[in-house]
Amino acid sequence: LQHLVTMETLSNEEVMALVENAQEYKKTNPSAQSLKEEFVANMFFESSTRTHKSFEVAERRLGYKVVDFDASTSSVNKGETLYDTVLTMSAIGIDVCVIRHPQDSYYEELIASPTIKSSIVNGGDGSGQHPSQCLLDLMTIYEEFGHFNGLKIAIAGDLSHSRVAKSNMIMLKRLGAELYFIAPDEWHTDEFDEYGKHVQLDDIIEELDVLMLLRVQHERHHGSEEFSEAKYNKEFGLTHERYDRLKDAAIIMHPAPVNRGVEIDDDLVESPKSRIVEQMTNGVYVRMAILDAIMNYRNQQKLDEENK
Ligand code: CP
Repeated sequence: LQHLVTMETLSNEEVMALVENAQEYKKTNPSAQSLKEEFVANMFFESSTRTHKSFEVAERRLGYKVVDFDASTSSVNKGETLYDTVLTMSAIGIDVCVIRHPQDSYYEELIASPTIKSSIVNGGDGSGQHPSQCLLDLMTIYEEFGHFNGLKIAIAGDLSHSRVAKSNMIMLKRLGAELYFIAPDEWHTDEFDEYGKHVQLDDIIEELDVLMLLRVQHERHHGSEEFSEAKYNKEFGLTHERYDRLKDAAIIMHPAPVNRGVEIDDDLVESPKSRIVEQMTNGVYVRMAILDAIMNYRNQQKLDEENK
């Protein structure tokens, strides 16, 4: 794996190899490995707790040298572009740049550049994609059910702003899941019709295997009408009454951060059917698997060049 920027670029076999490697890391839980030569920089131009810190834990557990990058004190403040910033990282010898950036598809010019040698891992691009979140979600579902084929999975909430929804719908459909989308009309666009049905939560809840809730992304709702948390919770949220209607074997997921009491009633976050905490734990193992795959690719490239 040279870069990880979208889910479409991975075959089903590559996806399952990453999930299975992550499961192996979780099972064996290896202690921190001795220091390796490679450098990884975590470059977050948007806020993050889980993605940023679980990449960092994954990098340190694998023994890579972690170069933290603080956008607020970098030369981005002098007007340097993302391209020139990553060009600099590449020139100083950073092997992998994990990047979260508000611009959709920011990575295109980076991976097309003949001068930038660093591998790019997309930690989230605007309302584009979030591939490492998708992989940890797939791992969490696979751990529970052992397959994806025929699972009834609903993705509920702020669909149009959600990179998690976009990455997940592409992969879950390709892996054979039956998808349902639950959202206010203004957050559901035609692009979702290709992947699943737009339904009401109350019409489908008893049939679901997985209910994947999304965060209401207030920071991306510029100029939209006033939002009522109570109204949203009543129509689209996971309330206690709806929780009791889920199948015994159904699971609840949420990429987090969670707006407790909005997408999901407060104490349901840590309820028996919730896998929200497990998703965060799985994030470290999936990110170890991603880094592994990228470093293997880079090491093979180096060997091939030496043997030319
Ligand atoms: N799920 C997720 O991406 O969380 P962070 O924004 O905290 O990284």
